[in-house]
Amino acid sequence: MSALKTILKATAATVIVSASAAYAEDVEVLHWWTSGGEAAALNVLKQDLEGQGIGWQDMPVAGGGGEQAMTVLRARVTAGNAPTAVQMLGFDILDWGNEGALADLNAVAADQGWDAVVPDALKSFAKVDGKWVSAPVNVHSTNWVWANKSVLDANGIAPPQTWEEFEAALATLKEAGVTPIAHGGQAWQDATVFDAVAMSAGGPDFYKSAFIDLDAEALGSDTMVEAFRRMEVIRANVDENFSGRDWNLATAMVINGEAGFQMMGDWAKGEFLNAGKVPGEDFLCFRFPGTQSQVTFNADQFAMFDQGGVVSDQQAALASAILSPSFQSAFNVVKGSVPARTDVSDEAFDACGKQGMKDLAAAASSGNLFGSMAHGHANPAAVKNAMYDVITAHFNGEYDAATAAEELATAVEIAQ
Ligand code: GAL
Repeated sequence: MSALKTILKATAATVIVSASAAYAEDVEVLHWWTSGGEAAALNVLKQDLEGQGIGWQDMPVAGGGGEQAMTVLRARVTAGNAPTAVQMLGFDILDWGNEGALADLNAVAADQGWDAVVPDALKSFAKVDGKWVSAPVNVHSTNWVWANKSVLDANGIAPPQTWEEFEAALATLKEAGVTPIAHGGQAWQDATVFDAVAMSAGGPDFYKSAFIDLDAEALGSDTMVEAFRRMEVIRANVDENFSGRDWNLATAMVINGEAGFQMMGDWAKGEFLNAGKVPGEDFLCFRFPGTQSQVTFNADQFAMFDQGGVVSDQQAALASAILSPSFQSAFNVVKGSVPARTDVSDEAFDACGKQGMKDLAAAASSGNLFGSMAHGHANPAAVKNAMYDVITAHFNGEYDAATAAEELATAVEIAQ
């Protein structure tokens, strides 16, 4: 039995007993959107609700990727005090949904016709047994590179299209005394880079076999060894203070011209915008070299915790605000993500946002859209964390590339 199941079993009674205490005028929202760009985007939602007379109790838990937030959530549920709504990703939503901890949003969904406008890739993480249990906010993707335009221009570098061109650009920057890659050495950030590097090294079939189907052969293959070898190239091009750095501080290095590139999901764009930077003028966005036709996605959703069998008015208002087309546009323009509805115009979006929307639609229709391993959309938390451990240990020099591939296959087998 998973730790999650054990906690829920042990605390189910407490959760039900305390549910009535959670009926408040406010919504209490647990999330990890604490960087400047993330907070600016969250404000769009807060203001929307406040306009409807619903107060917002903020429950921020810092830590990109949301691992710490999920730990706090477990503690809150254990204490019989689940928040009204919780930012959540992929398999975590399915886990809580399967445990029966989430509210049934079908009435709101039917009212707003979610089934017709939310893409299937998101629906499969938002519905459990035909029941909507969370409200999709956006679609992010992880296989992006963010670059400082003047740094690239000053060094005669055009956005690299292939891994080889990327390696050459890194060498040029190093030679010029600029930190080639801004990176934060935290497990989820190492894994975010690995999403793109593995896709680039092995292509979509390899990514799917290794990370989604968890095929032992793919996990331990020569292609995986090559992916780890490329991570060593990345490691050789980060500055010496990378360890433990928050992702938004790495983005700031690119914003300030201290580094050339950052490989990060498109939430990084929120930081550039929040700093008053303009895409195409101050910074560039492009797909990680060799992954131009693929999208590795993660979608933020707000899962609503069951408040005693009925969806509270506040939860219904929050869910319906999130899925409204005007909110989907206003929020995602600021956040860096793209809408979770297929019928929202790209008019208000900048060039990176427009490209993101186009890429997502193209990848979905050509079979090149895959859940992000690093952000909980390829496999459940136990497997994801097992992968994190190996990727990070290798990044920090504990294993060579061949050993890392072997360890990855073993770790995944044990975690399942
Ligand atoms: C992701 C999340 C994004 C972004 C990022 C860094 O998991 O989906 O919305 O905020 O973490 O915090």
